[in-house]
Amino acid sequence: NWTPDSFVETTVAGLKAKLGNDKVVLGLSGGVDSTVAGVLLHKAIGKNLTCIFVDNGLLRKNEFEAVLDSYKHMGLNVIGVDAKHEFLSELEGVSDPETKRKIIGRVFIEVFDAESHKIKDVKWLAQGTIYPDVIESISVNGPSATIKSHHNVGGLPDEMDLKIVEPLNLLFKDEVRRVGRAMGIDENLLGRHPFPGPGLAIRILGDITAEKVQLLQEVDHIFIQGLKDNNLYDQVWQAGVMLLPVQSVGVMGDERTYEKVVALRAVTSTDGMTADWVHLPYDFLARVSNDIINKVKGVNRVVYDISSKPPATIEWE
Ligand code: XMP
Repeated sequence: NWTPDSFVETTVAGLKAKLGNDKVVLGLSGGVDSTVAGVLLHKAIGKNLTCIFVDNGLLRKNEFEAVLDSYKHMGLNVIGVDAKHEFLSELEGVSDPETKRKIIGRVFIEVFDAESHKIKDVKWLAQGTIYPDVIESISVNGPSATIKSHHNVGGLPDEMDLKIVEPLNLLFKDEVRRVGRAMGIDENLLGRHPFPGPGLAIRILGDITAEKVQLLQEVDHIFIQGLKDNNLYDQVWQAGVMLLPVQSVGVMGDERTYEKVVALRAVTSTDGMTADWVHLPYDFLARVSNDIINKVKGVNRVVYDISSKPPATIEWE
């Protein structure tokens, strides 16, 4: 009979037995899975767990500082690494989505590897892999064609000489959230929308610059904060904004403008494999659109994505 409490109890006991006095390193992403994995491991082995949280410069506005703060408040032994420049300089001039993903994956491993080598005698790499990741990794990396070089599975291990521990690899997302709740993790962390590992890099269509990242962070912040302020955030499975590689004509006063277009995306889903666009209220969309165009210099047009998956994917790249 599965309950979150019994899962926590058995898993913590199992981790203690398995890990003993060994040192473990875990990459935190700010997402639900790695956070819950971190807290479980912390319960089991305390200070023998070192968490590494990398700022790749492609996170949401203020996200790195806010999330790092909540991790520290939770008592986790966490190292924040500012690697913004490494990522952005490696991505310079790159437009192809798969190349972006590969670069981000590679730089992440380099940064993570360098940090974890600073920890003496580390033996284990912990990962927040959940059951659907395992399944999807098999279907993505298996005999059929690669769909996207997706997700959190299969990245780090080969490069590093560490044993792997994955305490959540038999759980579904809703179970992970329930386990997190049972351990008293803040609802703000548990209720967070999924966010792709490559972050805003795959929401900036075309090449990536620091200016584009900053512009998209502002737009995204207006949209996400709007969803929260209007009690819509929890009704949506995932939301975000794409910065399109086109400019369109507009007017401002007597002037014609020729500026950027952004596309808002909000979907409902259970696992991301299929998704429906959300019928957000028109008055909400109207306000968000006005806010974006008035407050973010360089954007003169906002569109709303009304495509479902399949055939459209959630992300545009
Ligand atoms: P798609 O666009 O394939 O997205 O419908 C399904 C879910 O996966 C997320 N996603 C990614 N997550 N690395 C990730 O960690 C990626 O490269 C990646 N691409 C898409 C997407 O945000 C959605 O939740």
